[in-house]
Amino acid sequence: MEYYLMHNEKKVALISLDVDTGVILRINKLFEEALLPCGVGVRNAHPDRAALNEWWIDRSIPASRSGIERALEEMNISSTKMLLSRCFGLSLSDQYWICPKGSTLSWHEVNFFENDFSEDIGDILIGKRKDSKNLDFRSPDNTSDGALKKRWKIVNGKRCLLKSGSNPFRQQPFNEVIASKIAKRLNIPHVEYDVVWDGGEPYSICEDFIDKETELVSAWRIMKTGKRDNATSLYRHYVNCCGKLGVDIVPAIDRMIVLDYIIANEDRHLNNFGLVRNAYSMEWLGAAPIYDSGSSLGFDKTERMINLEAEIECKPFKKGHEEQLKLVSSFDWIDFDSLLGIEHEITSVLSETDGLESEARREAIVQLVLRRIGRLKEFAGQHKPQEDRPEEDVTENLAKAYKE
Ligand SMILES: Nc1ncnc2c1ncn2[C@@H]1O[C@H](COP(=O)(O)OP(=O)(O)OP(=O)(O)O)[C@@H](O)[C@H]1O
Ligand SMILES: [Mg+2]
Repeated sequence: MEYYLMHNEKKVALISLDVDTGVILRINKLFEEALLPCGVGVRNAHPDRAALNEWWIDRSIPASRSGIERALEEMNISSTKMLLSRCFGLSLSDQYWICPKGSTLSWHEVNFFENDFSEDIGDILIGKRKDSKNLDFRSPDNTSDGALKKRWKIVNGKRCLLKSGSNPFRQQPFNEVIASKIAKRLNIPHVEYDVVWDGGEPYSICEDFIDKETELVSAWRIMKTGKRDNATSLYRHYVNCCGKLGVDIVPAIDRMIVLDYIIANEDRHLNNFGLVRNAYSMEWLGAAPIYDSGSSLGFDKTERMINLEAEIECKPFKKGHEEQLKLVSSFDWIDFDSLLGIEHEITSVLSETDGLESEARREAIVQLVLRRIGRLKEFAGQHKPQEDRPEEDVTENLAKAYKE
């Protein structure tokens, strides 16, 4: 079937799409190269179809999404790719969509920033609804990324993302709140998270930081705007790519690495940060506020492992947190006094976990943060900028998968 690939009100390309497999079979016409998804190249006036397909498939719910097999079964659908065309590929993180050729649909009629959406798919994805009769597929949940169960919901007129935790501790929602409290104390631009309970389960809730004027482009896509040679580290490549787009990303990356060090974040992969641009002027506005910091604070570990700081993974640049800290250009912006008393705030957030955490595990988490702040302070005191080499780089951009 033929569709226009659209970017808000504008045509980007005319494509032939197999809606069952989600594969773009042909790109029949290119209207505006500058509007192609970030990192999709053009050679001799032909967009790279493989790259466009990769971008399109990446828009579907990942196979690693917790509970997705059951949800697909309930919807009687074989793959998450089939959900894409049922909501015109619309999302609440950017302004791309597909419009069937010959239809008179307009962006203003369909987009989810300005129009309400159905709760059906969200209900199925989080396991609240079992029957699949008369499902209304108009939902940004069909295009949401990430491994944790989640849904978009309009709360008091605001588009909000609700996200669950993973077994055994269901700690991620609380961690999001703690991470945003630490970021606030350090003046790091961040998404504000709260915890809400639904059906006895905790969810983090945050507002959409994207609106009808803007869009999020992940670091994964930004890195595709340039070629990286073997002598260039991942970090340097990202800084270079952002620089070419007119964004000095170093201060924002300094802040992200420091926050991730403090909370021992294990899943800051390349889709968990990025840039925001104006979706009309296409001007790059800078780093996205910090979001998705939940897989941290020993979220899947026993009290003993937390005390030992055992098996703490590091992403996105270096394999170890201490090594990644060496990438930070300046620590001058950190007001360590602003972190005084953070232990009380952490204890207070974790006390809401309602039996999911033991007292001893909570205390281990508090001590983990205090130890890491202490080490960070020491490191900052002796800091000398050094040349970064690619040897210790992370080799794959893989998000964590969680057991149900
Ligand atoms: N507040 C927000 N506003 C706009 N887009 C958002 C917001 N929060 C998340 N997103 C988008 O939704 C995606 C999924 O959200 P998030 O990363 O929080 O989920 P996750 O399941 O924790 O992901 P992961 O697999 O990395 O653990 C993000 O990669 C981002 O593209
Ligand atoms: Mg994520």
